[in-house]
Amino acid sequence: MLDIKKIRADFPILNQQINGKPLVYLDNAATSQKPQVVIDSLVNYYSTINANIHRGVHTLSQLATDAFEQAREKLQQHFNAKKSCEIIFTAGTTHSINIVATGFTSLLQKGDELIVSAMEHHSNIVPWQMLCERTEAVLKVIPMNQEGELLMDEYDKLLSNKTKLVFVNHVSNALGTINPIKEIIDKAHKFGAAVLIDGAQSCPHIKPDVQALDVDFYVVSAHKLCGPTGVGILYGKEEWLNKLPPYQGGGEMIKEVTFEKTTYADLPYKFEAGTPNIAGVIAFGTAIDYMNGIGFDNIAEYENELLQYATKKLLQIEGLKIYGTSENKTSVISFNIDEIHPYDIGTIIDKLGVEVRTGHHCAQPIMDFYKIPGTVRASFSFYNTFEEVDVLYNALIKAKTMLS
Ligand code: ALA
Repeated sequence: MLDIKKIRADFPILNQQINGKPLVYLDNAATSQKPQVVIDSLVNYYSTINANIHRGVHTLSQLATDAFEQAREKLQQHFNAKKSCEIIFTAGTTHSINIVATGFTSLLQKGDELIVSAMEHHSNIVPWQMLCERTEAVLKVIPMNQEGELLMDEYDKLLSNKTKLVFVNHVSNALGTINPIKEIIDKAHKFGAAVLIDGAQSCPHIKPDVQALDVDFYVVSAHKLCGPTGVGILYGKEEWLNKLPPYQGGGEMIKEVTFEKTTYADLPYKFEAGTPNIAGVIAFGTAIDYMNGIGFDNIAEYENELLQYATKKLLQIEGLKIYGTSENKTSVISFNIDEIHPYDIGTIIDKLGVEVRTGHHCAQPIMDFYKIPGTVRASFSFYNTFEEVDVLYNALIKAKTMLS
């Protein structure tokens, strides 16, 4: 079992008061908190080896380059990518998806079909809609049921030889549902379609094996798994990354530049134009080490216990309805109480030190499906406690009493 007291001591931010009450941070799906080792990693980089990478023969540049490339190897190992050049550092999941969506412009034809799911974050919808506008490809949607699970029979019906790409999240940010991505990938491959999995919400809970999944693209953000903001990765199979054109032009992504013609660098640098977030990438490597030190199996087990406890407890509140009730879900509870607006609940419980996200969670189609304006979302991490669930419960009772 995890020693939660010891783990919490790693996170300086947790030990403070908000509005005069002990902080209860339950907005982990929006961003995770950072352990001291990750904060130290950022500070150490700037205090000891700050220099631009891949550019200088001088010692500092080499130290910074080594640290940066070591982080790439850590990420390669973590996701079990075949080669380190299949790990592209980006600014985050949204950036990673846009690289792929833009790259497919020249690979699609009018009438080609793309498949998305009904439970996506806007960042896994909008870039593809923009791609469809550019290419006249057609976007199809896998529907879901009231529990917030994809209708796989409907997916079967959507797949055809016209399908070129399928993009689905591994875990829904608004509902917590864990989607059957292996089945989704295997079925798409039967029709020769490529699959991109948005791992932004799965990566804090599940360690994916990209080779076992046989996924073509898997994208994540560092800040969801205890790393800094503004950093993420695009994992892509080498053959796919070689097929896609570069997303941005600039320094370090070239082999040779003349005014007549420019040739591009090999992977991964072809997609890493400009000076990257060097400190952020190095700290991402530190965060991955930290999370692996705790162990993803331990994290999943503990968070599932928290989820079960919190679900039972919150359902004791009369009028509370949970959205996303799949058996197969991560530690996210999206809910409303009676007709009370989620913002009102969020505002009151914030005064009691409880931080949750309210609104449509950048997933408006899900809210339209349930015919609601939004939800209150409590999302739990391995550093949360059962006592914090009780604080949430009491805060909600208070909010309900005030707002009813
Ligand atoms: N995508 C993040 C969330 O679900 C920001 O809150």
